[in-house]
Formats: sequence, structure tokens, C-alpha cells
Amino acid sequence: MRLPLRLNLTHLATATLALAAFGAHAQATGPVKVGFMLPYTGTYASLGNMIESGFKLYVQEQGGKLGGREIQYFKVDDESEPSKATDNVGKLIKRDNVDVLVGTVHSGVALAMAKAAKESNTLLIIPNAGADAITGAMCGANIVRSSFSNWQPAYAMGKVAADKGAKKAITITWNYAAGAESVKGFTEAFEKGGGKVVKDLNLPFPGVEFQALLTEIAAQKPDAVYAFFAGGGAVKFVKDYAAAGLNKAIPLYGPGFLTDGTLEAQGAAAQGMLTTLHYADNLDTPRNNAFRKSFALTYKSQADVYAVQGYDAAQILAAGLNAVKGDLSKRDALTAAMRKVVVDSPRGKFTISPAGNPVQDIYLREARGNNNEYRSIAIKALADPARGCKL
Ligand code: PHB
Repeated sequence: MRLPLRLNLTHLATATLALAAFGAHAQATGPVKVGFMLPYTGTYASLGNMIESGFKLYVQEQGGKLGGREIQYFKVDDESEPSKATDNVGKLIKRDNVDVLVGTVHSGVALAMAKAAKESNTLLIIPNAGADAITGAMCGANIVRSSFSNWQPAYAMGKVAADKGAKKAITITWNYAAGAESVKGFTEAFEKGGGKVVKDLNLPFPGVEFQALLTEIAAQKPDAVYAFFAGGGAVKFVKDYAAAGLNKAIPLYGPGFLTDGTLEAQGAAAQGMLTTLHYADNLDTPRNNAFRKSFALTYKSQADVYAVQGYDAAQILAAGLNAVKGDLSKRDALTAAMRKVVVDSPRGKFTISPAGNPVQDIYLREARGNNNEYRSIAIKALADPARGCKL
């Protein structure tokens, strides 16, 4: 016997309501699944480990929960290998079914992650990779960065170098997105300030065969060299630059990645180097002092900028989860809160631009002992131009 239509609809509505309630309930219980896609091997391995440590430290300081929910971790070693990136991010999205992706260090890998996050509408927090397009043409409500755009520290260094009176500069980097964008940002400000970049040198990532390029720098005798390298490659480059005797004749500038987390290994070769970055080890604020103490106690090692970026990635996720009391189904409220947050970072407080990138002070630092020491604010509250971002 057919039931009257009204009854059918009532039943249907009740069932739908019950399902919705169940759905919301299911979304708000159990752990939030966080998928780290980071380099755990290769030239950026220490950066990946620092990011994970920083992220977990913040969660641990909150008693292991964000927005009232436990956090469950998954991880994939992306090897800083763009050709494997789509497969690797697929493991976290499809196999592990993570709620949030956290990664990565390498811009080329991060661009593939951002594409996959957009296609699957997965939340993505980028704790390092500066690829300008991620908070430019590829920007999206589900993507936010806790670190920097490649343009930011580079642009600040271009201004500092020009202000110091350098006229002729040579740039040197790995030829992939981060290196190219870093050089572009430096050149933009340096040439605006009256300088001229006379030559761009590069080599394939993650190569460290610098000798021929250093010989060319010595022959050209510029007023300054601007270099983008990081991790293991930065250690080798700074040491080779000094071993060639160039550090006595031509100042070596760079974004702070050139000397961050690397000073112990670089030793005398890095002493006195000036770099620009959104963090300095010895910022004497209660927030930074507490963070560094907590990090050192937990991990028996000193924090660096990558640890800060991981820590702040967790703070941004916490802002989102707190706003919805852990209910991931309230997606719009969650992502809005992740944009509205003022992050109380060890680097100093910062906001997030509409495109999803930190608006932050860029410091001039000097390498002294094992610290990148604060010297001055190179540019205050620097916002990435977010070229091409339409939201
Ligand atoms: C990047 O690929 O965007 C990148 C890698 C390492 C850094 C900074 C930027 O230290």
C-alpha cells in the first residue's frame, strides 16, 4: 500500500535531519587527521623535521587537542621531488583521507599540492614553500601559508643592498621556482633603489657544484652577491664562497634561509653575514623566549625559522578549529577564522592577507655564533602583492 505523499515527505525530512545531525556529530568527534607532506630526506630534510617538531610542539602545549579534538598524524616523505608530488599528496588525500594537509618546503612540490588541494577541496596549510602563485594566481579559501612568499624576504634584501650603496650585483641560485622568484624579488627592489643586476647564475636543484660559478663571480667583481640556497646546499655554498676567499672581497647577501638552521655547520664562513627574514633567533620578547625554551626542552636542540613556521601552522589550524568547536563540516566559518586570526608568533604578531599569506615585518639579521641576530626592521608589515589572486 502506498503511503500518502505528505507522510513520505515527512519521513524523508526526518531522515535527512537525522543524517545531517549524525554527519555533523561524526565530523566533530574522533581525531582530526593531519597529513604532513614534508622532505625527510635530501638537502631539505632538516627543514622538514623542524616544521614537524614545531607543529607538534604547539599541539602538545595545548594538551594534545585543538578545538577540543585529538590530532592524529600521517606522514609522507616528499623528497623535495616535484615529479612524485601528485602521487605523494594523493596518498594523504585518498588513502589516509586526511582532514588537513600540512606541507611542504619545496615550491615545485607545493605547487602540485596546491593543485590537488584545490581539486579535492582539502584544507592546506603551507609551513614553508614560498611559491608566489600559491597566494597569487592559485589562491583559494582552503589554502593558507604560515611562512612567506618568495618575494617577501627577497624584496627586503634588494632594498637593504641598494641602501648600502651597492650598484652592481650578481645573483646565484638553484633553477627552480623558489630560486627564480627570490632573484626576481631581489632585483625588483635593488633596481628600484638604483642598482643593477648584471648577471644571474644558476645550477640545477639540489646540485652543489659551485666552483665554476664562483670563478665567474671572482672574474666579474660585483659590489654584492645575492644567493638563494637553503638546508644542506646553503651550508656548502657559504663554505665554498669563503674558501674561495670571496667573503673578504664581496658581501654575500641572501634571504635568511642562507644562514637559518645552518650556522653551526657553516662555522666561521658565515660569521657577520647579513640576511633578511621574518624571524631572528634572539628576538627578546616573552613570546619568543618562551617558545625557544619550550622547543629546547622538548627536542634538545635550538629552534630555527622552520620550527617557527611549523608552530604557527598549528596556531592557524587551532584558530579555525576553535572557531567551529572542532566541527570540520562548518567549512566556511573554519576557513574564515583561519584568515582572520592574528597569529601570536615567536617572530612577532602577524596577520593573514585575503590571499592567505602572512603580512609581516622583515628583519635584517647578522650571523653571530650560532644565532641570526636581530639588527633592524628592514621593512615593516610587508604584504606580498598577491599578483593574480582573485577570490
Ligand atoms: C622553496 O622552495 O620555496 C623554499 C625552500 C627552502 C627555503 C625557502 C623556500 O628555505
